Amino acid sequence: MNLSALQPQVQSLIETHKSNPDAAMQGICDLLQAEVAHYDWVGFYFADHDKRVLHLGKFAGEPTDHTTIPFGKGICGQVAESNANFVVPDVKAQDNYIACSITVKAEIVIPLFKDGLNIGQIDIDSNTIDPFTAADEEFLTWVNAQLAEIL
Ligand code: SME
Repeated sequence: MNLSALQPQVQSLIETHKSNPDAAMQGICDLLQAEVAHYDWVGFYFADHDKRVLHLGKFAGEPTDHTTIPFGKGICGQVAESNANFVVPDVKAQDNYIACSITVKAEIVIPLFKDGLNIGQIDIDSNTIDPFTAADEEFLTWVNAQLAEIL
């Protein structure tokens, strides 16, 4: 899948749902999970900076028990603190990792910034080992930046 080919559809979802970010995010999760072969679970987490926890927002894929993740815990919690992309080619090699499903082999988490603040993240699990490249990082960074415009 050429990820940039999905950009018009992402833009259209954001434009259509600019007054309803939840609908835009659900549409983006559904689109990416359906169209990108190595995206098996796609979700957004948002930060409560006072309580230092992440809360799961919209997602596509199997429901997860991990709807609240403390800052610092797991890949997601680490990104809440580092403000940096985290690409995990093989989740078995990570000590600080929260398993959502035994089928997951790799994960990518890209922070979402609004006015310079790390307010959340897009989290993608893959059942394929080592599937993510710089193209995924660029594309997902772009998705988050577009979305930030309506948040
Ligand atoms: N694996 C994540 C937890 C979230 S699930 O992937 C949906 C982590 O280690 O933070």
